Amino acid sequence: MRVVKVPLGKRSYSIQIAPGLLARLGAECRKLGLGRRCAIITDTNVAPRFAKAAAGSLKKAGFEPVLIIVPAGEQSKSLKTVAACFDQLAAHRLERGSFIVALGGGVVGDLAGFVAATYLRGVAFVQVPTTLLAHVDSSVGGKVGVNLRAGKNLVGAFHQPRLVLCDLNTLRALPAREFRAGLAEVIKYGIICDAVLFRRLERDLGKLLAQDPKMLSYVVARCCEIKAEVVGRDETDSGPRAILNFGHTIGHAIENSAGYGRYLHGEAISLGQIVAAALSQELLGLPPADAVRIGKLLAAAGLPTRFRLTPKLRRSLLAAMRLDKKVSGGKVKFVLAEKIGAVRWGQSVPERALQRALDKLAR
Ligand SMILES: NC(=O)c1ccc[n+]([C@@H]2O[C@H](COP(=O)([O-])OP(=O)(O)OC[C@H]3O[C@@H](n4cnc5c(N)ncnc54)[C@H](O)[C@@H]3O)[C@@H](O)[C@H]2O)c1
Ligand SMILES: [Zn+2]
Repeated sequence: MRVVKVPLGKRSYSIQIAPGLLARLGAECRKLGLGRRCAIITDTNVAPRFAKAAAGSLKKAGFEPVLIIVPAGEQSKSLKTVAACFDQLAAHRLERGSFIVALGGGVVGDLAGFVAATYLRGVAFVQVPTTLLAHVDSSVGGKVGVNLRAGKNLVGAFHQPRLVLCDLNTLRALPAREFRAGLAEVIKYGIICDAVLFRRLERDLGKLLAQDPKMLSYVVARCCEIKAEVVGRDETDSGPRAILNFGHTIGHAIENSAGYGRYLHGEAISLGQIVAAALSQELLGLPPADAVRIGKLLAAAGLPTRFRLTPKLRRSLLAAMRLDKKVSGGKVKFVLAEKIGAVRWGQSVPERALQRALDKLAR
């Protein structure tokens, strides 16, 4: 088993990574000294696969879990679902000492984490991620929240989990397209922090796609280490944590402009990284060979690297970027790469450069 520590003083916790960890959920929660009553929040796709094992493990360790199942999909990251969860927690008399287990992908993690942050002014929670994106990204770092009609993640909190349990076996049930979408974030970690990880991905991508246990646990642990280190330096996202947004300014704009549901988050972030690499080449001297490697690796992972850019879509992309919540003082700030493994955040980008970078995407 690999263990990664998230260093946050009193709020520190560990991320455990191995196949088969779900069976240990109860025993690990025991060690944390949590109250007997707890709720497992999960979704309609994950529940039939893993809820029984999670509940069984908790019961065996002496806990009394109740199961709350929300519809699968981004729509469940809503205040309406939050209210429905509150009602069920209250009906089952969960108390201050009780805790919540988030069993699922990033949607369940963000929702259940927000419920945990706010129910009775905050109860403990444990993340049991079941998508690759949640293993390497959303379950770590304590950003929890839901969407408003006006936009994604507009209501939320920082609420760190007490434990993250990455059972690599859960990823076997994940649709291939979802797994590949998670790889966009994995590749991002290589670009922002770790040239060795990037090279290893180039060399052993086949093993990773086949979910070779050794390769998978190395990759998940390395990504978690990078995220833990960044979060340890900047828990509340006031500066350096921005590097985790490489490819995301354009990626979010594509998610919002291309019509909801067309691209998965990771797919949009793949396109965003192509644009960010082109901008990096022009503005920060990213070697052209590195930009080529980034494009090749994303394509090899089965992610989109080209985009049909109509004039209308181009206009709405630029408008969406200006609306991005990371815009400060009216200027869109980008994370750009100097080379694979090193980035700089807070970079201003002239609109003409952005136009040229978008042209690369359309080619
Ligand atoms: N909090 C953060 O720091 C952070 C970071 C990145 C993304 N996010 C959020 O994460 C969300 C996206 O997460 P996601 O990509 O995991 O999406 P998701 O939770 O919707 O999961 C994707 C799909 O896979 C299904 N699924 C999950 N695990 C499965 C399994 N093991 N087998 C079969 N099906 C399974 C889900 O039911 C869903 O249909 C977004 O809302 C995004 O805003 C949060
Ligand atoms: Zn992302």
